[in-house]
Amino acid sequence: MLITADMKMADLIHLDFQLLAVIQRIGINLGFREKTIDEVCKENDVDTDFFIQIARSFHDKDYFPKEKFFTFKAEWLIHFLRRTHQCILEYKIPEIEEKIKLMVEDLKETTRNYELIKNFFTEYIRELRVHMELEETQVFPYVLALSECIESKTKTEGFEKYFNEYNIQRYLEDHNDIEEKVFDLKNILIKYLPPPTDSCKYNSLLFEIFKLEKDLQDHSKLEDKVLIPKVKLMENELENL
Ligand SMILES: [Fe+2]
Ligand SMILES: [Fe+2]
Repeated sequence: MLITADMKMADLIHLDFQLLAVIQRIGINLGFREKTIDEVCKENDVDTDFFIQIARSFHDKDYFPKEKFFTFKAEWLIHFLRRTHQCILEYKIPEIEEKIKLMVEDLKETTRNYELIKNFFTEYIRELRVHMELEETQVFPYVLALSECIESKTKTEGFEKYFNEYNIQRYLEDHNDIEEKVFDLKNILIKYLPPPTDSCKYNSLLFEIFKLEKDLQDHSKLEDKVLIPKVKLMENELENL
């Protein structure tokens, strides 16, 4: 089914419940009644086309209108990426941590294995925080400042002061693959840990890790395939002002 502006917002969730994350991160609250996607977006000051393109590309992994994404405001994208960071760090990660803690019961005879997972994940969270903090404190403010310059057709004072030497290429070189370690974590759980006594708990932990991996893949795809090339275009535009 094609996601269109006149589709009911509630039907979109019935079509793909995972799009609830997109709806929340784009800044829309539930309680749609019979309203269409277009009506709900307008009420929430969200650009309908931006919402539809994000929803379509998260729903269908083969759909990714790169050129179209470039036409949307950088601010919208940054807002969405920020809300995703927040959701992952404040909600998803603590949830997985809690599930790992619960697993200690099942693995109490083999504490070393549990310690292995726990330490691996603790180290991973540390890396993830560093990664996202760098984006929040340097990359995103840079993009927003750049966007302001383009809008005002001149280099603003703030831009000259903080970002004159900065460019997106620097970020690109350091933008490491944060999903890789989640894949390793999954493998340790699937292949190497002793069989759990409570497989429900164990499966639920694995399920959360799979979801986290997918979430991070979608997120990095937006950063690598939309944000970075879009910022390169913006940098050129600023140069040619
Ligand atoms: Fe990010
Ligand atoms: Fe990133």
